[in-house]
Amino acid sequence: MTESLHGLTKGTELEPLMVAMAQGEATGVMMYYALARLAKEQGLDEVANVFIESANQEAVHAGFYATLNGRYPKDFWQFVAGVAKAEYSGKATVKGLADKVRAAGFDKAADEMEIFAEQEWHHGVVIDELLKKFAPKKVESGKKWICSVCGYEHVGDAPPETCPVCGQPKSAFKAKIQIKAVRFYDGGFMLKSFACGGGLPEGSIKEEKLRSSLQNYVIDTGDEVILVDTGVPADFEPPAVTEKSVITFGDKIANYVDALKNLGYEPAQVSKILVTHKHPDHTGELRSFPNAKIFISRIEADDMNLTGDNVVRVDFTDGAYKNFPACQKIADGIYYIFAPGHTKGNSIVIVEDGEKFYMIHGDVTYSDEALLENKLSVVFEDLNAARDTLSRVRAFIKENKTVYLSTHTPLGYENLAAQKIMTLPDVDEAPIVETQTEEKPVGGKIWVCSICGYEHTGDEPPEICPRCKQPKSAFKLK
Ligand SMILES: [Fe+2]
Ligand SMILES: [Fe+2]
Repeated sequence: MTESLHGLTKGTELEPLMVAMAQGEATGVMMYYALARLAKEQGLDEVANVFIESANQEAVHAGFYATLNGRYPKDFWQFVAGVAKAEYSGKATVKGLADKVRAAGFDKAADEMEIFAEQEWHHGVVIDELLKKFAPKKVESGKKWICSVCGYEHVGDAPPETCPVCGQPKSAFKAKIQIKAVRFYDGGFMLKSFACGGGLPEGSIKEEKLRSSLQNYVIDTGDEVILVDTGVPADFEPPAVTEKSVITFGDKIANYVDALKNLGYEPAQVSKILVTHKHPDHTGELRSFPNAKIFISRIEADDMNLTGDNVVRVDFTDGAYKNFPACQKIADGIYYIFAPGHTKGNSIVIVEDGEKFYMIHGDVTYSDEALLENKLSVVFEDLNAARDTLSRVRAFIKENKTVYLSTHTPLGYENLAAQKIMTLPDVDEAPIVETQTEEKPVGGKIWVCSICGYEHTGDEPPEICPRCKQPKSAFKLK
């Protein structure tokens, strides 16, 4: 390490002179590279090379004066992380501009700009690699602010006075949406036949154990805290693990509300809850948020007999969202979307973040394997609707850069941490074999399998669930 010149002139009478020098040198870089370009166009390579050399030296000088004035932080990793975001979003900005240039008839210029757009993205990638390799692992805390012009991200209670990357004023910053996993169980397993065998003949799935966990998600928009589902009830006891178990919970990490608090949120801060569906691992602690508006599809709310002034029965009256026919807008960039099948009133949540989409889908699939292989789980109330929903989910992911956030697999929180954009192979839909009835025989009691939702009519439950193989004791009266 060498002795630092950082900030030597800051706050002295030299500061404005250094600002002017840095600016002048930066302008010189622009000038020399423009001249080098012109020289190249005229076949004067030797001239161009001299201009480029001068430009590079001017660039060094500009950086020198900026450092004397301490323009960028000495402890720069947090700052650089924000710059990476700006580089990533630079791709879309430049590409958009290239489209305009092309529309104006300047194809050759547009071609080159498209290369620049890819280079911006590449800068983001290489900076991210450096961050992984060198940056001290400290947790970013505080609110995140994003520059609406260049995409630079700033962490702190307030946005900076000016954007250090593009120079826009404070007013150009808006709070950035953050999504976090609220994790309450991990380390369990599920059988692949459970996760992928819905509607398929028995034995058609090569059996293996997949990882299982339980987490829901919280969306922090900067202005409000919105939950998607509310975990299992605090007093929930997972069923004993036996050789017949098709899905297990693993070890408890924390009660749902405690897990939320560990992420820095108090229940009183929560303004809205979006319920994907009625199952108890998604609605367990609704009771802990009496001040939050609970958005839930009318079908599910009626099925649960939900009452209370804070319950909003959703009828999805805001029209289509992309390839989904019916949605309700919840906040800017947050959509609650009808996606039936797993349950009849099932919904998913999509959060927009620039050109990226987060899909918080409840139980459309239990494992990413099912999504990749285009297969349904054995848990459904309406198999044909579930088939249609999975096809729409896959089509959406193929068309839009999507981070896929699941409830029952560790891949949910892992995809989130890695900001993994899901890519899907083309896979034909498996033909549906099972056709579990919409109409039930008249008379008799209705028994529901608490694991998979299979309904049986009769005075007694069946000895074994024909769909998920649970014993008689798993059935409850509807
Ligand atoms: Fe479920
Ligand atoms: Fe679930």
